[in-house]
Amino acid sequence: MDIKHLVSIRVVSHRHEDLARTEQLSGKLDLPRSTAEQCATRFSLAYRNDRLELSDATLPNSALPLSVDFLAGPSYYRFLNDRRISQPLSKAVGIRKGIRPTVCDVTAGCGEDGFVLACLGCRVILVERSPIVWALLDDGLRRAAAHPQIGRLVADRITLHHSDADRFLAAADAPFDTIYLDPMYPSPKKSALNKQKMRLLRAIVGDDLDSADLFAAAKKALPSRIAVKRPLRAPPLTPARPQFSIAGKSSRFDVYLPPYLW
Ligand SMILES: C[S@@+](CC[C@H](N)C(=O)[O-])C[C@H]1O[C@@H](n2cnc3c(N)ncnc32)[C@H](O)[C@@H]1O
Repeated sequence: MDIKHLVSIRVVSHRHEDLARTEQLSGKLDLPRSTAEQCATRFSLAYRNDRLELSDATLPNSALPLSVDFLAGPSYYRFLNDRRISQPLSKAVGIRKGIRPTVCDVTAGCGEDGFVLACLGCRVILVERSPIVWALLDDGLRRAAAHPQIGRLVADRITLHHSDADRFLAAADAPFDTIYLDPMYPSPKKSALNKQKMRLLRAIVGDDLDSADLFAAAKKALPSRIAVKRPLRAPPLTPARPQFSIAGKSSRFDVYLPPYLW
């Protein structure tokens, strides 16, 4: 895939030990490389304590860099404590007693929703077009795959692809049970904007202004179901009416089923 970066960014090495993998990453992502002292771009990617992190030089030093971590925080908590199949995301993708659809999440982002679905027993195919977000997610999955408790689940149920959704879906061998869409929403509420992680992600990937095309690409791939995550009060992604919607605390899932899909 051609790599186009929406922002100017570097891969930085802080320690001599990280030079080799920093070099490998800059080659893979087609990004310039520098030491921490030379770094003059607003955004930089660096390994710290075996974790790939994205930093924004305009934020105060106290601001945490962005990384993907399934071994701590909300993802790990949900892995340990919340495997309810009654939760809105689970119902939206079609999980039922004894039924675990294969889900192609073509807007993988930091993989949080995909990870929840894998914890619930689904096979999850993650697709992400931003090379930076893909690299952060790939790193999070790499570390999770080495974890004694989570490793098996990640290795057996999750695969990640760096691609645009329409290209990936057009090349897929067979239809997926469910295609899941969660594009950025252009006018976020203040609360979402205030979330530092979301702000950094938005700064890197933009507003996904082509998100209506995603639905068309998903439809063409003939899945048994399309589930779209939207902010609670946002209009649907497309003029087509969903068969039904499931509301969560701050978001809503619009579900589209055949024959109305085609
Ligand atoms: C809001 S985030 C998804 C968050 C994700 N559901 C999670 O739980 O972490 C949207 C992501 O979809 C990606 N994206 C948007 N349109 C895409 C497309 N056409 N193909 C692949 N990725 C896309 C963006 O780059 C961004 O990383």
